[in-house]
Amino acid sequence: MVSGIKMRPHLKLTRYFLKFYYYAFRFVLFTVISIRVLLYGLFHPSVIFNFLFGVVTEIAEFHKRCGGRVKNFKESKVYSEITDTLRFSQSNCLNVGFGTVRPIEAQVLASLVSYLNPKTIFEIGTYTGFSTLHLKYNASPETVIYTLDLPKDKSSIVLRNDLNEAHRDIKNINLNEQRHFHIDNDRKAIVELFGDSRTFDFSPYYGKTDFLFIDANHSYAYVKSDTENALKMVSAHGAILWHDYDFIHPGVFRLINEVAQNKKIFYIERTRYALLINSESQI
Ligand SMILES: C[S@@+](CC[C@H](N)C(=O)[O-])C[C@H]1O[C@@H](n2cnc3c(N)ncnc32)[C@H](O)[C@@H]1O
Repeated sequence: MVSGIKMRPHLKLTRYFLKFYYYAFRFVLFTVISIRVLLYGLFHPSVIFNFLFGVVTEIAEFHKRCGGRVKNFKESKVYSEITDTLRFSQSNCLNVGFGTVRPIEAQVLASLVSYLNPKTIFEIGTYTGFSTLHLKYNASPETVIYTLDLPKDKSSIVLRNDLNEAHRDIKNINLNEQRHFHIDNDRKAIVELFGDSRTFDFSPYYGKTDFLFIDANHSYAYVKSDTENALKMVSAHGAILWHDYDFIHPGVFRLINEVAQNKKIFYIERTRYALLINSESQI
């Protein structure tokens, strides 16, 4: 019986030494790798940014599960149908840039549009047009995509609220001149609109828009206004997708949780998306 055998003292000592050596070696390895990563990160900040972004996404995921009122997209009928049919959609991950949707978000956006097949799309927040092209390449050829962003001349914009975040968005992000779809061969389906989403007249689109993508100013007042307009614009079987539903955009997070008190909103794992599907039969 093994339990009856007493281990000799020198064997016991060897075992402790090996154990110590094993953990000490791993600790030194971990320290050396961490220092190398830190030094590498000092010279390549974008790598650190991507790493931190991954961590933030994980924390956001946890936060949504624990504190958020939204449901997991996996519980929806749309999710089952998309995954059951093994749908392949078009997405481009290499042109992802600072301020655009992340690679997995581009893929999810592509899958949603390709499945929902909207005939009219409205995007608030064009930026470089990266997400706009995902809308275009995954919708049918006859789909019309309206995309709104601030005008090039920002001097005409009078902010309706003076939250820091609203100012930061307007100052830092407006690279409208270099839009991806300007070099795309066929941009007939894309209609560029310019204006401040809080003062823009959305009434011509009321009840006629099958898919809305909200990704413009992230302050609470702006997201609230964009959402109120989107709820008027969305068609009976349409959908609204919000970007930046995470704790680093508290305005978006608060607003989505409020909307989720009366409407069924889903969060999509591994993304910062929140989704509303207007048709009961689809959820
Ligand atoms: C995060 S970027 C959009 C990124 C884009 N959806 C993508 O993934 O490729 C936000 C855009 O919203 C625009 N924006 C900010 N405030 C706005 C407002 N009040 N009205 C319209 N557009 C606004 C900014 O100029 C910027 O181009």
